[in-house]
Parts: sequence; C-alpha cells; structure tokens
Amino acid sequence: MSSSSELRRRVGREPGQEGGDKATSTPGTHTGSSSRARNLCLVLLCGLVVCALALYTYVSLQGPLPPGTHRLLPFLPLRGGAGPGGAAKQPRGAPQPAALRDPAWLAARAHPLSVCAPKINMTSKESYSLWAQPKGRMGEQLKAEIAHLAERHGANPFPPHVTVLGDIEKPRAEMEALMEQLAARTKKYRINFTDVTRGSIFYQCVYLLVAKDPGTMAAAQAAREVFGRTTPPYMPHLSLLYSDMEDGERLKVVDYEIGRLYGENSSYDTLMVENGYDVDSISLWYTPTDDTGLRSWCLVGEYELQG
Ligand SMILES: *[C@@H]1O[C@H](CO)[C@@H](O)[C@H](O)[C@H]1NC(C)=O
Ligand SMILES: *[C@@H]1O[C@H](CO)[C@@H](O)[C@H](O)[C@H]1NC(C)=O
Ligand SMILES: *[C@@H]1O[C@H](CO)[C@@H](O)[C@H](O)[C@H]1NC(C)=O
Repeated sequence: MSSSSELRRRVGREPGQEGGDKATSTPGTHTGSSSRARNLCLVLLCGLVVCALALYTYVSLQGPLPPGTHRLLPFLPLRGGAGPGGAAKQPRGAPQPAALRDPAWLAARAHPLSVCAPKINMTSKESYSLWAQPKGRMGEQLKAEIAHLAERHGANPFPPHVTVLGDIEKPRAEMEALMEQLAARTKKYRINFTDVTRGSIFYQCVYLLVAKDPGTMAAAQAAREVFGRTTPPYMPHLSLLYSDMEDGERLKVVDYEIGRLYGENSSYDTLMVENGYDVDSISLWYTPTDDTGLRSWCLVGEYELQG
C-alpha cells in the first residue's frame, strides 16, 4: 500500500512530467514515507545532474563538428562524410549543415563501390560527380538489375543513380563546401522514368530515360550555378549498364530490359516496383571517368536537400 503510493510519487516526478501527477498528492497519502521519498528524489536529481554533465563533456570531446550533424547516431565518431574543414567552413548565418555522416549508412549507399578514405588515392585528375540515388525498395531493385546486367555482359556494377552534374574538377574541400550550398538551396524532387533506351558512348550504354520535370531540371540548374559550370543540355537518365558494346548488342539489352522491368510476362521479382523515385538528398562521388573499371570510384558524402 505505502510502497505503491511511493512508487506513484516517484513516477510523478520523472523529468518531463512535472505537474502531470497532481492527483496523487491528495491529503491522506502523506505518511512517514514522505520524507524518505523526498530524499530519494534529491538523490535521483543529483544523479541526473551528474549524468547530464558527463554527457555534455563527452559530446564536447567529439571534435569541432557543427551542431545538428549528430542527429543520426549521436555516439559514433562521425567522420565518414566531410573531410577536415569541409562543413566547418560555412559562412555566417548559413543553414544547418546538410552532410549525412553515419559511416554504416554511407557504406550501404556506396555499395557495390566504397566510401572514400579521408585522403583519396588519386589515380588521375581530381574529378567528381553529383548523384541523385534511389532509396528503399526501388534502390534495391535497380541495384540488383544493374548487378544482373553487369554479370551477364562481363561489365562492372555500380550504385543506381541519376547524375545531376558530372566531371567537376575542383579540390575535395571546395567540393564539400559547395555541396552544402547546393543542398541548402535545392528543393526535394521526384524523378520519373519515361523509357528504356541506349546511347552511343561507354557511360551511356543502356539506361532509363528520366522525364525533364521542373524539379529535376531545377536541381540540375542549381548545380550548374553553384559549381560555375555551363554544360550541354541536361539529359537526365539512370544508367543500367556501362559498356562499349556494339549498337546492335545495346538494342538487344534494351529489349531484354523492357521485358524484365515492364514486360507483361516478366517474372514478378524483376517488374519495376515504381516508375520513379523521390530525391531528398544528393551524393558527392569521386568519379575519374578514365577509370572505366570503376576501381577508384568512391562516395565522398551525401547531403540532405533543404531548399
Ligand atoms: C594508390 O594507387 C596506386 C595506383 O593505382 C597504387 O599503386 C597504390 O598501391 C595505391 N595506394 C593505396 C594506399 O591504396
Ligand atoms: C511522376 O509520376 C507520378 C505518377 O504517375 C505523377 O503523379 C507525377 O506528376 C509525375 N511527375 C512528377 C514531377 O512528380
Ligand atoms: C512473352 O511471352 C510470349 C508468348 O509466350 C513470347 O513470345 C515472348 O517472347 C515473351 N516476351 C518476353 C519479353 O519474355
């Protein structure tokens, strides 16, 4: 009886519940145990203060990352995304940093390629690309489809993506700072596929053509402004295969993919689950185009769109 009322009083004073338990302190419940309960509360309060101080000290020792970047995994030393000085060089009054830094999450995004080391082993010129990568079921399905085609044609697999802007030659720290700027001004958008088709170069062998919707075009335009680039007209697409094969072979792969992704008699595990995907982040990749084996390609970081 008295222990249950003591328990109720303790529960009533948990942090965040102040004033929420007035009904239990009605006259008549005050017995000899009330001073014991008060002592107990004092001890609990002291404990909380010590815990808070310890937590504050721990977080302060985690390094000079700006606030807000720890949201995903607060107690990991999150260093996967930006290199030293990347996000920290934000101008005064800039919005929250957009870099997503959980190393395990980034590794999954980079698969079957890898996340860049803090210092990239440059194989040739320093060249980067901006990718809008699908997530969730759609991402898994396209990843599997790319792996299937790569194996079938002896090519190299890569993560599914629509390039927003490619072949940017700037130092990594500058790239990372500009990515924060781009993420701050770009709105989330939707990518819709319109066709399976083929191109004439290695990196545009067989791909899903993407609709030139306003959101898709606005993101590409913003990237061109932020990175100071004037490039040929934007042809948004999601590559399914990188290869130098003959045009006749490309055409066969196109028909094969139409059958697998959209065909009425394709098996249900290859039929496209959705005809596009939502883009809420853009990733920064090290992508030297002369490395067609993709060995040196790696993910630098991913940035949440906040426009
Ligand atoms: C860097 O790349 C070169 C050339 O591909 C290679 O010989 C070297 O072993 C690499 N170094 C590291 C640390 O990966
Ligand atoms: C993409 O496709 C969906 C479903 O068909 C449609 O509702 C939407 O308007 C299309 N375009 C964009 C930009 O979302
Ligand atoms: C679909 O089925 C028809 C008839 O069974 C067959 O002729 C055709 O080749 C099949 N198409 C694909 C893409 O498998």
